[in-house]
Amino acid sequence: NKLKLAVIVGSNRSESINAKLANALIGLVEDRVDARLIQIDDLPMYNPDLEGARPEAVQRFTREVAAADAILVVTPEHNRSVPAVLKNAIDWGSKPAENNVWKGKVAAITGTSPGAIGTAVGQQHLRQILGILGSLVIGGEAYISFKPDLLDAEGRFGNESTRAFLGAYMEQLLELAGRISEAPAKAA
Ligand code: FNR
Repeated sequence: NKLKLAVIVGSNRSESINAKLANALIGLVEDRVDARLIQIDDLPMYNPDLEGARPEAVQRFTREVAAADAILVVTPEHNRSVPAVLKNAIDWGSKPAENNVWKGKVAAITGTSPGAIGTAVGQQHLRQILGILGSLVIGGEAYISFKPDLLDAEGRFGNESTRAFLGAYMEQLLELAGRISEAPAKAA
């Protein structure tokens, strides 16, 4: 049984550089995991009034997150924080509190932007949000400044040291997710 890796891209832009980065990251581990991209751009704006009858897109989203052994979030930074489309998805997943899908979920965070500090501030906000919700966010940092040579024509990492660095980051995610998913529950 392969680990189920759910990949969330924090951008709804059709030519998103973060979507491209996400696909390259999946490419590093796709032979070993069951990876799937989870759509967030079809979710309505969170509104507690909708809780009585959650929209179908919301139900699909929370079902897919809940089924995952590991989450990889690849996101841009908007005004030094988490893009609204991503925060909206996180909010849906966090409610109602007893069904919070982020609780106990092993997660890794990365992202890219053309700027020099490559989403570092947005990732700090995201780490805090997921931490509060009970996700187990792996240590380490992966801030990627998007340069034209980051990815080659096939969408793979163009540079060996970047590939090795991000490969190790992905290994860390899979290793922790593997340990958590195999851990037997303690007797009460
Ligand atoms: C940005 N961008 C940006 N970049 C950055 O490094 N730090 C920031 O705080 C912001 N803020 C910001 C706000 C808004 C509203 C937009 C639309 C853009 C630029 C951003 O990194 C760039 O648009 C990337 O291409 C976004 O990633 P995707 O959507 O291509 O994945």
